[in-house]
Amino acid sequence: MKKNILYPLLVAIMSLSLCAIMIIGEMSGLFLNPKGQEDQASSDDKLIVVGVSQLGSESVWRTANTESIQKSLSRENGYFAILNNARQKQDNQIKAIRSFISQRVDYIVFSPVTEDGFENVLTEAKDAGIPVILMDRTVNVEDDSLYVTHVGSNMEEEGRKAGEWLEGELARRNMSDEEINIIVLKGTEGSTSEIGRSKGFHDIAKKHPGWNILAEVDADFTNTKAQEEMGKLLRQYSDIDVVISQNDDMTFGAIEAMRKRGITTGRDGDVMIVSFDACHEALTMVYNGLINVDIECNPIQGDYVSEVIRKLENGETVEKEYFVDEQVFTKENVADSLSSRAY
Ligand code: AHR
Repeated sequence: MKKNILYPLLVAIMSLSLCAIMIIGEMSGLFLNPKGQEDQASSDDKLIVVGVSQLGSESVWRTANTESIQKSLSRENGYFAILNNARQKQDNQIKAIRSFISQRVDYIVFSPVTEDGFENVLTEAKDAGIPVILMDRTVNVEDDSLYVTHVGSNMEEEGRKAGEWLEGELARRNMSDEEINIIVLKGTEGSTSEIGRSKGFHDIAKKHPGWNILAEVDADFTNTKAQEEMGKLLRQYSDIDVVISQNDDMTFGAIEAMRKRGITTGRDGDVMIVSFDACHEALTMVYNGLINVDIECNPIQGDYVSEVIRKLENGETVEKEYFVDEQVFTKENVADSLSSRAY
């Protein structure tokens, strides 16, 4: 008798539970029909798998660079990208590359934090038959067959542009023969951007005996480190004419350190500011006269990388180096680019 009353109740509870499972399953895509599963699997098979080792997220520029590669290597464009952020640590990059090798990715895209120290892991990638594309920065290796190509900026040229701008500006102010005291805030020591920009600027500076480089300090491409280092330098040197800051984030920190001590910057200020990157906030400061010049470093490199991969997929040969387009911004020409700058 008891059994007869409980039975319909049990059936009702089980049916309701089954319905609930079906609805949740449908919503979460758990119950794709076999055909759906096949479609998904076969379209995934066609995706090009790319391991991307990004060096960190130290600057506005870096965020724009990461977004560019994510946008270009999207699923809609035929890619499956595995992105790793190394947080400015070489060990993390080496671990990430080793993990890409063990996952047997089709390509490795890699923005090295410094130039030295990647020879072994790149040899492992080569032995595994995985082509490596360097993005933004490059590596110092004896055997350049360890990577297929480098897509990025001509950092040395950027450094030269900074020096040439200063030459021109001093001539315009009739100050070419004066003693000029210069501070250089350097990006991460040993990185391509630091090495190239320092070399390019020095190539011009050595032609000018009156340019006194008072100090060159490593501020790691970050705002906070630059603010700290600039604070120390201001206690040490009372007469600074020019700050060459190797990226915009460090420029913001340096300007803040000067502002706190009542020192003005830019076109009509106490200290001339030469910056690199040309992100929106810095270009606004160029427009407002707080930064004298910004040497562009273009982070939008994703499409270039994708094009290289497409060529390799088609069996075409690629160049060993591709430089992105870049320009120099001053008050005179910045207005047009300001409205369209997305980062
Ligand atoms: O390597 C490019 C440099 O790295 C950019 O100038 C800087 O902002 C970034 O951190």
